[in-house]
Amino acid sequence: PIVALVLAGGTGTRLFPASRSTRPKQFLSLDGDHSLLSETVSRADFADHVVVSTRPAFADQIADHAPDADVVVEPAAKDTGPALVYATHRIADLYDNPVVVVLPSDHHVGDGFSDAMARGAHVAADTDSLVAFGVDPTRPDTGYGYIEPGTDHGDHRDLVAFHEKPDEETATTYVEDGYLWNAGMFAWTPEALFDAARDSPLEPLVDALDDGDPDAGFDAVGAVSIDYAVMERAADAAVVPVHFEWDDLGSWDALARILAADEDGNVALGDDPTFVDAADNVVATDGANVSLVGVSDLAVVSWDENVLVVPKAEAQRVREVVAQLKEAD
Ligand code: GDD
Ligand code: MG
Repeated sequence: PIVALVLAGGTGTRLFPASRSTRPKQFLSLDGDHSLLSETVSRADFADHVVVSTRPAFADQIADHAPDADVVVEPAAKDTGPALVYATHRIADLYDNPVVVVLPSDHHVGDGFSDAMARGAHVAADTDSLVAFGVDPTRPDTGYGYIEPGTDHGDHRDLVAFHEKPDEETATTYVEDGYLWNAGMFAWTPEALFDAARDSPLEPLVDALDDGDPDAGFDAVGAVSIDYAVMERAADAAVVPVHFEWDDLGSWDALARILAADEDGNVALGDDPTFVDAADNVVATDGANVSLVGVSDLAVVSWDENVLVVPKAEAQRVREVVAQLKEAD
């Protein structure tokens, strides 16, 4: 069967202050109705089963957003590398010959998504390689992984190299050279993932899971994303180029790209702000009256008694705020 593995254990640092460690972005709603997590689960219609993966702190919240999904809670929050090895191991126990399709729960996707996921699952089953999905880049975004595609095999291309979150200069050359953005979605058989993970810093975890000792396995590895731990060094990987509308809602500038703008290019989430001679801003508020006068290209967020102001172009740097606040804690 095809098993959709929905990732819902991140803290959404760059969407501070609306996203907090107690209520991260996957539980937020952009339409005032459905959370990002529940939208992600609903669009997994290409799959036979849906499994949600999360960290211990969020375990109790998942059922409100995904009542019908199985939930796999990793023993400790160590980013997506350990989480995905752990959840895939569980799926291999639960189902016969599963193909896993990994879906992050912070994405906006358009038509064609389901077909592309089904295609990726078939490529993963046919080739026994790790399958990434590649999006045509439109800017040198430093928040994404970049994939160098190789030989074209029709439904997929070889994955020659994978580079997670490069600096802007490097990202610019990748865009010029025809690299693809890593969509953050993956397809694999458990064997393909474990083979690759045995060749990575996650090896002790794979061994411990085989021995039935997940806690020891989590103690033996550090926090690391699947991108750095496995994809950057994968010897056998493929990329399925995809063409559906796609955005990661990881930072405030992304909202400006997907929500409808007024005639001056301003975008608002939550209550209506007042704009006077202000253009191309994004404002998010959970109740405060926000007014912008004579400014442009800013993200202004008022949430839970926190106020954030950042140029949209530097929205990735919000993670520095959270790091400083943590230090001060
Ligand atoms: N279970 C679990 N445990 N899930 C987690 C954890 C964890 O410790 N940490 C993060 N997640 C979930 C998040 O909730 C999100 O749904 C997904 O994993 C991806 O995490 P992000 O933190 O949003 O990753 P990213 O956006 O910075 O980067 C990834 O996605 C990009 C595209 O959206 C990478 O794969 C990039 O290469 C890629 O371009
Ligand atoms: Mg993301």
